[in-house]
Amino acid sequence: MKFFLDTANLDELRKGAAWGIVDGVTTNPSLIAKEGKPLEEHIREICGIIDGDISAEVVATTSPEMIQEGRKLVKIHRNVVVKCPLTRDGIMATKALSSEGIRVNVTLCFSANQALIAAKAGAYIISPFVGRIDDISWTGMDLIRDIVQIYRNYGYKTQILAASLRGPTHVSQAALAGSHIATMPFKVLDMLFNHPLTDKGLEQFLKDWNKAFQPAPVGG
Ligand code: E4P
Repeated sequence: MKFFLDTANLDELRKGAAWGIVDGVTTNPSLIAKEGKPLEEHIREICGIIDGDISAEVVATTSPEMIQEGRKLVKIHRNVVVKCPLTRDGIMATKALSSEGIRVNVTLCFSANQALIAAKAGAYIISPFVGRIDDISWTGMDLIRDIVQIYRNYGYKTQILAASLRGPTHVSQAALAGSHIATMPFKVLDMLFNHPLTDKGLEQFLKDWNKAFQPAPVGG
């Protein structure tokens, strides 16, 4: 499974990159706006930190404008993947951009039928939002399972990116469901490392080692 960071914060991206387990980045207009820098400059910096698919989202709402924006975005860096929303215009833009060989991540997916539409339009990635479905008291992970099954049934090559993940359990459940990619905030990636038995075990190993091999303190 590929791990993507769902952030545009450069410090978080640098920390994640140093761990060597980050395969890409997803951004969206809200995440970019939070950092307060022009989109192109910011995406270029992100591409310099993480060597992998970097999703940059269009903000236009009509397909001709989305297509123009998408063509411009991919000129920033060879790793840029254009993100289009799952609207009628977004799907028309996905079809056109994909036909030109431009990779598109179709975002804001909340149903299996929407995922089918994106695959048919030639999407490189589909982004179902698990957490936002949980927020309205449905089970977001069921959508990941349904899309995995449907794509398998028909051999669609579109990669499933579990998005809007809110905690470590979401990540392991998405992996069990067969999602190709999980994108997560930095704090969730950080949490994946934690286990109390790892800390307890290491503490005991080092205590035993030091007891056996540490020279006695001078005068002790
Ligand atoms: C995905 O690409 C989106 O940026 C993201 O996962 C949205 O997550 P949120 O629901 O926590 O905003």
